[in-house]
Parts: sequence; C-alpha cells; structure tokens
Amino acid sequence: MGQLEGKTAVVTGGGTGIGLATAVRLAAEGAHVFITGRRKAVLDAAVETIGPAGATAVVGDISDLDDLDRLYDTVRARGRGLDVLFANAATASFATLRQTTEEHVDETFHVNVRGTLFTVQKALPLLNDGASVILNSSVRADDGVAAFGAYAASKAAIRSFARTWANELKDRGIRVNAISPGTIDTPGLDAVAAGDTPFTRSQFVEGVPLGRIGRPEEVANVAAFLASEQSSFILGANLYVDGGENQF
Ligand SMILES: NC(=O)c1ccc[n+]([C@@H]2O[C@H](COP(=O)([O-])OP(=O)(O)OC[C@H]3O[C@@H](n4cnc5c(N)ncnc54)[C@H](OP(=O)(O)O)[C@@H]3O)[C@@H](O)[C@H]2O)c1
Repeated sequence: MGQLEGKTAVVTGGGTGIGLATAVRLAAEGAHVFITGRRKAVLDAAVETIGPAGATAVVGDISDLDDLDRLYDTVRARGRGLDVLFANAATASFATLRQTTEEHVDETFHVNVRGTLFTVQKALPLLNDGASVILNSSVRADDGVAAFGAYAASKAAIRSFARTWANELKDRGIRVNAISPGTIDTPGLDAVAAGDTPFTRSQFVEGVPLGRIGRPEEVANVAAFLASEQSSFILGANLYVDGGENQF
C-alpha cells in the first residue's frame, strides 16, 4: 500500500520539472493526481509518464480565476474532495531594479502571488479535513541574488502565505507548509541559465555545498513527505531542499 492510497491530489505546473516529478511520486503512493498547466501537449505527455489511470490533465492558467474554477469543477466531479494540493506553478524572469518594467513586476506578482493565493482559496471548499497544502517557494526568498528581485519577493510572499494559511486552516486539521528548493535541474532552470541573467549552470553549481544541482525527484520526495501522515506534526514550516545552498 502506498502512503496516499485513495487520496486525491492537485499539482499545478504538473507537466514538467518539479511538478511532474511530484505528480509521478504522488501517483506512485496511490493518489489520483490532477495536473494543470497552460500547454495541452505537455500535460498529455505528462499523463502518459505518470500513468493514465493515476492522472488527469486540466489545461489552465493559475492566474485566470475561470481556469481555476474549471480545474476544481473537474476535481469535484470525481466526488472525493481534495487531500493534497501542491501549489507549484510559477513564472520566472529576471531584471535588476534598474531594468524592471511594469510588465515584469505585474506578470511576476500576477502569477506567482495572486495566482497561488487563488489556487488555494478556490480549493478551500473541496479540501478534506486533514488535507495537506504545499506551497513551492525558493531559496531565492532568503537571499539577494542580483536580478532576482521581483521573483525573490514573490517567493518570500509564498513563504509568508504558508504561515498565515496554516494558522487559518489548522482547526480543520489542514496543514499548510512550504518547500524552498535550491537549484534544481528542470526546464525552468534551463530557461534561467539560457536567459538574460548573470548565471550559467556551472555558476549555479558553485553556490551549492553538495557540489551539484538537485534532481526534481529530490524535491518530490519532500513534497510526498509533506503530503503524507509522516509529516503530521509539521505546520506552517518551510523545508529547504537545497544541497545546503542557503544554510552556511
Ligand atoms: N528549478 C529550480 O531551480 C527552482 C528553484 C526554486 C524554486 N523553483 C520553483 O519550482 C516550481 C516549478 O519550477 P520548475 O523549476 O519545475 O520549472 P518548470 O519545469 O518550468 O515548471 C513550471 C511549470 O509551471 C507551469 N506554469 C507556469 N506558469 C503557469 C501558469 N500561469 N499557470 C499554470 N501553470 C503554469 C509550466 O507549464 P506551462 O508553461 O505549460 O503553463 C510548467 O509546467 C516554480 O514555482 C519555481 O519557482 C524552482
């Protein structure tokens, strides 16, 4: 028996990277996983990877409230409520303070902060007592890497949400926690390393005491732990999965 046998899970941004690895892991633990993202072909391929019996794709943008309603209508139709929500989807683009435009800051906060807030708010009527809500923050919430300003601030907001929502939902036995990944090998990292930032992959590695980039499965392991009863006394916390990047 898996640790999530018969449970229902939602993973936003479940088509690639950390979200896909977590969806695979939650399904392997017995959950039925609803994944969402904006690209249908990516989600369809992810369902094949997860195993069609264990996953359902719902195309949608977390910053679009109608899309969130459609996502949760699909989950509701399964008739078992929602036990695990991994609010993982985010956008990542980079600009120094001098370079920052209205569009850059609006997009970052629209998706990462507002989108995550409504992802969780709209799940509230579906969440079963005892559910686990996991928010994906970042080590960047704690540090001051140049050009990460808006993204880092959005991830600090996510870490903050975990504390407030844990307090608000604890009476239903719903646990809210955050994860702060360090540098993880995903398509998102490829985009950062190839983009207009001062970082290459090898420069990212230099900052990691364990001397390597993390694997998405290493974050998925922590998400699965937080999703399960193994973490029953962890509430409002932030678990680092960073190879020591922000610890020394
Ligand atoms: N990789 C790292 O080093 C690292 C470190 C710390 C934190 N994180 C966080 O980990 C999470 C996952 O990132 P990743 O590294 O796994 O990158 P990724 O592979 O690019 O995954 C991001 C996923 O989110 C989806 N997405 C983006 N915007 C969306 C939106 N508006 N609505 C719905 N889905 C959306 C994307 O699919 P579509 O484009 O099809 O929508 C994609 O599947 C993010 O929150 C990121 O900030 C990553």
